[in-house]
Amino acid sequence: MSTEQIYQRIKSLREQLNHHNYQYYVLSQPTISDYEFDALLKELTDLEAQYPEFDDPNSPTKRVGSDISKEFNQVKHRFPMLSLANTYTEEEVLDFEDRVLKALTTEPEYVCELKYDGVAIGLTYKNGKLVQAVTRGDGTIGDDVTANVRTIKSIPLVLHGNYPDDFEIRGEIFMPRNVFEDLNREREEDGDTPFANPRNAASGTLKLLNSTVVAKRKLDCFLYYVLGDNLPFDNHYQNLVAAKDWGFKVSEHVKLCTTSKQVMDYIHYWDDARKKLPFDTDGVVIKVNSYQHQNALGLTAKTPRWAIAYKFKPERVSTTLLSVDFQVGRTGAVTPVANLKPVKLAGTVVKRASLHNADQVELLDIRIGDSVFVEKGGEIIPKIVGVDSLQRTLFSTPFVFPENCPECGTQLVRPEGEARHFCPNQIGCPPQIKGRIEHYISRKALNIDGLGEETVALLFDNKLIKDPSDLYTLTKEQLLNLERFAEKSADNAIRSIENSKQVPFPKVLYGIGIRYVGETTARKLAMHFGNIDSIATAKMDDLLEVDEVGERIAQSIIDFFSNPLNVDFISKLKGFGVKLEISSSEQQVKSDKLKGLSIVISGTFSKISRDDLKELIQQHGGKNVGSVSASTSMLVAGDKIGPAKLDKANKLGVKIVSEDEFFELIKD
Ligand code: IVH
Repeated sequence: MSTEQIYQRIKSLREQLNHHNYQYYVLSQPTISDYEFDALLKELTDLEAQYPEFDDPNSPTKRVGSDISKEFNQVKHRFPMLSLANTYTEEEVLDFEDRVLKALTTEPEYVCELKYDGVAIGLTYKNGKLVQAVTRGDGTIGDDVTANVRTIKSIPLVLHGNYPDDFEIRGEIFMPRNVFEDLNREREEDGDTPFANPRNAASGTLKLLNSTVVAKRKLDCFLYYVLGDNLPFDNHYQNLVAAKDWGFKVSEHVKLCTTSKQVMDYIHYWDDARKKLPFDTDGVVIKVNSYQHQNALGLTAKTPRWAIAYKFKPERVSTTLLSVDFQVGRTGAVTPVANLKPVKLAGTVVKRASLHNADQVELLDIRIGDSVFVEKGGEIIPKIVGVDSLQRTLFSTPFVFPENCPECGTQLVRPEGEARHFCPNQIGCPPQIKGRIEHYISRKALNIDGLGEETVALLFDNKLIKDPSDLYTLTKEQLLNLERFAEKSADNAIRSIENSKQVPFPKVLYGIGIRYVGETTARKLAMHFGNIDSIATAKMDDLLEVDEVGERIAQSIIDFFSNPLNVDFISKLKGFGVKLEISSSEQQVKSDKLKGLSIVISGTFSKISRDDLKELIQQHGGKNVGSVSASTSMLVAGDKIGPAKLDKANKLGVKIVSEDEFFELIKD
């Protein structure tokens, strides 16, 4: 292919992929299979890698993000980002309408919208291309989060149709409930604190420095406000409908109302119907439609006079606290769970609610037999928000956090700085053992299919397995003796267990289940140290050199390997041939140009991400270390390098090279 033909192909692939993204993420009407989509994406990714001269930040391949770590730049909003006055009663809505009527000479139209519960974002498009995405910040200045926003599939990078050449569109970035639930499940499995609600998860995600992680979190975005000097229509509603044609995700629930009754009907309808939506809303927004009317009404210091928010009341019911269970998880963490007299709340029957930890229980002074208030606000899991102390009877009994594990009787411990209690009986406590085995076989770890939670329980109860390494001793006959298995399913399970010996080391390390070592950390540790023995013998300082490993994780690793039972477990895995080191293809030794050198990197880099740079150092035989000391051989200095580090390097006479000079060093 000639260069021109290649460029045309790249262009055509980008257009096709943009179109299919729109069909899938905005319209929810895909017209090709995931497989076909992936094939197009791969072709484009390969071509772009081969022909970097045709690179484009708005290419659909950029949706995967990059881990080039940049603190966010602060950007001034072209139009200040106002917020909305809140109302909580219908009366206040009527008052708003009265004020509007009084200020205008003609009857207004209203646009009613849902109030999405997420993070506000302003997107600037120039000549049909996304150029900047800025958070609300203080309303005047916000954070430039463009790199992260580019990964959100429902936000178009390139527009279609008849869009203005320079405009801003605002909307709300949110995390759909099912994505939030999956994310929290994963976080709990990894020993990370779960997010309280989808809004916090969305805002936490948007502020991550590594956009590859953002890309995986499946954020979504509704757009609700177009701003600019050359908009096609003189009213909010028509511009919003037009924005849909340019490729934006505009909610289908936006309604143009001409009477106050229609506004009230909208509020009443959504007060209940919102519970069935797959995302969180916390109210309804009512906006005066015509720009002429909006201008006539004007603004207050913080909010427009032409719009208000009507906030839904979080649903709250009272019920009786019957008892409290204490659940023990894989890591031994004990969570109190309230058993409630079943009660209908927000469309579902609630029987259980999490009480989180002992502090929470103490704070609320909850007693068994109490009449408690249960709320389902932004949170998915209902929570007990208080006790109706007026209803407290003589029969309510304070409950004390158990001193011993409810499953195995071992005395619980509460590490300093931890709100949770833990059962330290790692080897003898059944839910911990089963939890570890379930984690080991899970998809992101050793990916052993053909076994599930119930099978693990069955195998454990029949004393066939007591730690994950016992899986490798299972025979087909043993499985066939269990009622769940037939010839074919037993074959499948055995094959899948055998295949897991080929699973790469980073996934095995994750599967081993060291507290706080999630998927990413496991990969970083594996790449840094190369094999399990080096991790097992690493000292605190060595561990801290690994990107994203802080003292909490490092201590957890040290604790893990100082337990002889774990050492024994690892040695059994080794004996069965499970991969406990990086294979040479993963290691990709490229040269020994940096052999014996201890290299510190600092700052941000324009051509390569920090992680890739570290990997490159290793691939060329060097060792990446965290801080400058007398034994440091070289400092690779990027942009915005900390002055202290630079100073120290200078004082110690450490060689300082730029990003470009570093590439020169390792060039063939
Ligand atoms: S319009 C000047 N429409 O609510 C008008 N805001 O409390 C600005 N929000 O900062 C906002 N859904 O983050 C508008 N349909 C909607 C909305 C909405 C959610 C958020 C937005 C805003 C906050 C105001």
